[in-house]
Amino acid sequence: MSNYHIKNFPEYYHVYRNSVREPETFWEEIAEEHFVWKKKWDKVLEWDFSKPEIKWFEGAQLNITENCIDRHLATRGDKTAILFEPNNPSEPAQHITYNQLSERVNQFANVLKENGIKKGDRVCIYVPMIPELAIATLACARIGAIHSVVFAGFSATALSTRINDSDCKMVITSDGSYRGSKTIDLKGIVDEALESCNSVETVLVAKRINSDINMKEGRDQWLQPLLDEASTVCEAEVMEAEDPLFILYTSGSTGSPKGMVHTTAGYMIYTAYTFKNAFQYRENDVYWCTADIGWITGHSYIVYGPLANGATSVMFEGVPSYPDFGRFWEIVEKHKVNQFYTAPTAIRALAKHGTALVDKYDLSSLKVLGSVGEPINEEAWHWYNDTIGKKKSPIIDTWWQTETGGMMITPIPFVTPTKPTYATLPFIGIQPCLMDENGNELQGNQVEGRLCIKYPWPSMARTIWGNHQRYKETYFSAYKNCYFTGDGALRDEVGYYRITGRVDDVIIVSGHNLGTAPIEDAINEHPAVAESAIVGFPHDIKGSALYGYITLKDLGESRDHTNLSKEINQLIADKIGPIAKLDKIQFTEGLPKTRSGKIMRRLLRKIASNELDNLGDVSTLLNPEVVESIKENRL
Ligand code: WTA
Repeated sequence: MSNYHIKNFPEYYHVYRNSVREPETFWEEIAEEHFVWKKKWDKVLEWDFSKPEIKWFEGAQLNITENCIDRHLATRGDKTAILFEPNNPSEPAQHITYNQLSERVNQFANVLKENGIKKGDRVCIYVPMIPELAIATLACARIGAIHSVVFAGFSATALSTRINDSDCKMVITSDGSYRGSKTIDLKGIVDEALESCNSVETVLVAKRINSDINMKEGRDQWLQPLLDEASTVCEAEVMEAEDPLFILYTSGSTGSPKGMVHTTAGYMIYTAYTFKNAFQYRENDVYWCTADIGWITGHSYIVYGPLANGATSVMFEGVPSYPDFGRFWEIVEKHKVNQFYTAPTAIRALAKHGTALVDKYDLSSLKVLGSVGEPINEEAWHWYNDTIGKKKSPIIDTWWQTETGGMMITPIPFVTPTKPTYATLPFIGIQPCLMDENGNELQGNQVEGRLCIKYPWPSMARTIWGNHQRYKETYFSAYKNCYFTGDGALRDEVGYYRITGRVDDVIIVSGHNLGTAPIEDAINEHPAVAESAIVGFPHDIKGSALYGYITLKDLGESRDHTNLSKEINQLIADKIGPIAKLDKIQFTEGLPKTRSGKIMRRLLRKIASNELDNLGDVSTLLNPEVVESIKENRL
């Protein structure tokens, strides 16, 4: 029996039991047999959740790119590693083999070095979904630079906040990007961001849309001529197991985005192991994850997890709606995709367009369907299962987070019986628990509480960049000796988990995590705004959408609220990005507050969701009278 590849349910139980009874022995065996090391570890695990401090494979030395690229060259050199499908369907796809990937990563790594980047330096990667994005990421890992990929849909302000937070020395970008029928001036956004960044010395610019852009003398350089000159050989830097591999920012309930720090060995092992099993990947399969590499899903399951298994990973530049809503299925047919991984929001948007655009294509290559990023509702689950999977491709509803690095609760296809809307059982090595409000662990089945994890797993984030205290407070303070996820969940009668959603002020819109605080801060910068509160409400396609309650300094009748709403949304787009725009804006005379002055978001959430019958007792509020008028004027 192989612990690395689980093939049936009894095997899952057996391996799971071993993985939690003797975690160190278990992970040591996986590490030993399936990865290449420059030096073996002294100790498998050291941990203390009260500090918190977590170390996996201390003493080991490795380079993740040797595991993701070099070791495959002897047997898989001519196999496609990255299959790039461009935005425009008439532009040919690119099959980048492992040999070519090796050369291109090494060239890029040499360019980084020639431009002064050393081990430990932070490099911001703000590149659309073109091969250079994956290659730049791996090139950083090759030389031990810490990559900080910022999703290329974020605004200049959001970009500069992230660059400054981790003092990036370099930015890698492109002249622009294609998104459906539109082009986006990425370099212009970088120029604007860098007006408020002092740490950046160099900007490398990939050519994608051939637009006429401004190149700042002494700072900006075109990438291609540098790559053409660079050697295709670059020795891999020796990395310690716990050296940081990357920083990735995620929204919190309050304050600025958190730079989650992932380290090298544990992250590699866990993403590789979960990829292999959760997708039941076989040697000649073509795997496609539709996420952007700017999110954790892309890091773990477009780049590192698949490449560590020598897989073929599709990278799609475009959007599901261009040139029409059949694009995903056209790509599945064209590349004979075997495993397909997407988000519920995309499934809902596609389902809305019926089956005609699905039926046009041959989807018989599909074996496994994945879902990630938010709870998948029953209707979307069935559409995915029936219309796309033809009831023969199991759906893996994978629950995990930027902080967890890899999948935590998920069915293993053809192994775990699935159940609509349930993420089902913990992955090998993962020990979830549910807590009640008083911090007691809920025992047995048929219980609902807050989802925590009791024991370390290899790919957990180790800290928040520059703010270990915040890491401790956010994840390890709510419950003693547990990692708190911020999600609620229930456990059914057979022990299956269903994720019920966030229990904090993070709202997931179209699969993107948004903290309410930064959006409210952006709104409050508008000169006419006195105060604002953002809540989520259910939305057919996006899962949740944003509802803003805004009080103005002067609620004069003469104000044009339509224009004001537009200005406010523009401000949000400028400060955060278009994904954070509000769907509904209600101008109110006041916001309901407790006697201690806290905004009663629970109440606002219910009103936004049209749950008006069940608002509870509002008489203890500081200003109960505003509730009636908010209710009356709800949108
Ligand atoms: C939510 C994405 C229900 C959850 C990998 C989590 C999910 C947050 C699921 C993390 C799922 C993710 N079912 N909810 N299958 N997957 N979530 O950091 O609230 O972008 O805490 O990581 O998304 O989002 P993040």
